[in-house]
Amino acid sequence: MADQAPVAAAAPAASTPVAAEDAAARTVASLAISDAVPASTPAPEETPAAAAAADVPAHRSHDPANNAKRTDPFMFGQRFLTQEDDVFEYNAWDHVETDDAFKEYAEKQYELQRSAPVSDFDKSRFNSDPAKWWNMFYKNNTANFFKDRKWLHQEFPVLTEVCEPDAGPKTILEIGAGAGNTAFPILARNKNPLLRIHACDFSKTAVDVMRKDAAYDTKHMQADVWDAAGTGDDAMPPGLGPASVDVAILVFIFSALSPSQWKQAVENVARLVKPGGTVCFRDYGRGDLAQVRFRKGRYLEENFYIRGDGTRVYFFEKDELVRIWTGKAEDTEAPIAGDMDKEEDGSFANAENAEKTEAFFTEEDAPFTLENMGVDRRLIVNRAMKLKMYRCWLQGRFRRK
Ligand SMILES: C[S@@+](CC[C@H](N)C(=O)[O-])C[C@H]1O[C@@H](n2cnc3c(N)ncnc32)[C@H](O)[C@@H]1O
Repeated sequence: MADQAPVAAAAPAASTPVAAEDAAARTVASLAISDAVPASTPAPEETPAAAAAADVPAHRSHDPANNAKRTDPFMFGQRFLTQEDDVFEYNAWDHVETDDAFKEYAEKQYELQRSAPVSDFDKSRFNSDPAKWWNMFYKNNTANFFKDRKWLHQEFPVLTEVCEPDAGPKTILEIGAGAGNTAFPILARNKNPLLRIHACDFSKTAVDVMRKDAAYDTKHMQADVWDAAGTGDDAMPPGLGPASVDVAILVFIFSALSPSQWKQAVENVARLVKPGGTVCFRDYGRGDLAQVRFRKGRYLEENFYIRGDGTRVYFFEKDELVRIWTGKAEDTEAPIAGDMDKEEDGSFANAENAEKTEAFFTEEDAPFTLENMGVDRRLIVNRAMKLKMYRCWLQGRFRRK
């Protein structure tokens, strides 16, 4: 699967406040934007202002002669934008908060989206058999499937550990593996003769794509059809039993589930992962451009949309996600995903979205604890068209109790 394909597919004709010219505004919707850009490791919530105030070390400098993008090896998260910078000097900046124009635009878009939700007929059409729409997606998107996600090992060091030659028997389960964009790069770097990668997806077409790939090596890899929100006999994928998985990977799959499936999916992952095992997670954050640019007829429910190709996508608040997995909001005082504005009384203007999410577990009975969860904010710049595109992803790890 092309990294950016779901977002590109999600792009109905959209307008944006960040473009001065109408023509440019129309074109922003058709720009392919990568979902899979890796997160920055340090201080994801750092604001441009804070960065400006800090003593910026040379390797973080945006002096063209000594820019972070030219470090070898390249390190993410070091392209800080300060007031002195020309925003259009580079293609991307890290840790950038949305500007007021974008916030205003986002609010208007949310209102527009809510005012014209998906019809009941279409809701049942898209919700009754979501795998059908993903099958169509994989039939229609055969090019650029396998981009090597070099950032995986950088962002999730546990993946390097289980691939070491002497790591011993280790099992990785990739859930919603798609065409294998994560599983194959891990396999390619593996030096552990006892590593097994189970790559599961509920799209049979996606699983066929993985199985037909030249790199599909059954000694180390098994691709299967499995619904992550399956129940009863289908609650576990083929070949895996309770507490058999060392590392579970969920990259842009949790957002494809309906909120009504979250609890079952978390319970299924909990059953599979060994005590002390890790869940590596990356997905969309609220306020991401992909959300904001949805127009009429795409809104299923709050933060949940149907793309033009019939696939569904949810945009998470950080607190909401942490609560779903661990029963606890990490820090209710500091919602940082999306566009929550602090009021004079210390509350947040639209924190109600995060609070609405049901807590499935108490902190005590939740199967996972939080290792870390960061908000990965990027400002992607189209220099030729003078467009600013704000992206927002959530990335982190949960630990099985
Ligand atoms: C946006 S794609 C991401 C694919 C892959 N993780 C990647 O990053 O390239 C979402 C994937 O989740 C799969 N998916 C959606 N709902 C699922 C479910 N209930 N169980 C298993 N896979 C699911 C889709 O078929 C699709 O392959």
